[in-house]
Amino acid sequence: MISDNARIYKDTLIRDSSIGDSVISDRAVVISSQIDDKVEIGRDCSVIHARIGFGSFLGKGSMAKFITIGKFCNLSWHLSLGGSNHNYKSACMYTDTWWKKTFDVGEGLGPVDINDYTVIGNDVWIGSQANVLRGVKIGDGAVIGASSLVLEDVPPYAIAVGSPARIIKYRFDEDTVSRLLNIRWWDWPREQIRDASDYLRGDLDETKLGELERIADEINTSDK
Ligand SMILES: CC(C)(COP(=O)(O)OP(=O)(O)OC[C@H]1O[C@@H](n2cnc3c(N)ncnc32)[C@H](O)[C@@H]1OP(=O)(O)O)[C@@H](O)C(=O)NCCC(=O)NCCS
Repeated sequence: MISDNARIYKDTLIRDSSIGDSVISDRAVVISSQIDDKVEIGRDCSVIHARIGFGSFLGKGSMAKFITIGKFCNLSWHLSLGGSNHNYKSACMYTDTWWKKTFDVGEGLGPVDINDYTVIGNDVWIGSQANVLRGVKIGDGAVIGASSLVLEDVPPYAIAVGSPARIIKYRFDEDTVSRLLNIRWWDWPREQIRDASDYLRGDLDETKLGELERIADEINTSDK
């Protein structure tokens, strides 16, 4: 289903997908995917077998396949997310998809196990031209530097850079990371996130963290 409020630009291809109040830019391809509200898919992106959470954006010319992407992710341009390996031990490195397409041999690509999907958490920032391979899990709040090649899982709030990507530091100290992972502000009702914008924007300090914890407590209490 495509929301009446979705903005779908020119020459897009959308198949077997649900799209919320989101933007699908020129020439983007979206196949077998679920796109939540306030997502922006840039020009010339391909999004295939993907789930993209509220408020995330994917910059132009990016490929995202067999992937779940959380909420509020800042995904820059020209990314390769979830690309798979071809079997370099066979005489021909064609995948089943290409045998089916070219010679009508075999079944083509069967269902991909969800456990093999690439997973991008919430509030993740991936710099331009990075490459995150199939099956890699990137934790909530992590940062991936521009042009990095990510072969291994990246823990929450780590900053990983380079090819292959290595952790150079964390966004915050251990105690702050664990408090933010309890707060999980990205799961709050949308109005509460908006109302807390003063605490979510600008450098984090003890006052803001305390306020975020207070709001999280209120939400948890009212949920019970
Ligand atoms: C990852 C990033 C956020 C780190 O920024 P920072 O905290 O200011 O990091 P620093 O500049 O202090 O760099 C720390 C070290 O990591 C290295 N480094 C930083 N970014 C790197 C990258 N993308 N690839 C390889 N090495 C990198 C630096 O050379 C430095 O190494 P050194 O300690 O040996 O000198 C930033 O470098 C980056 O890649 N930003 C992405 C920008 C982008 O793509 N924007 C698109 C708009 S969404």
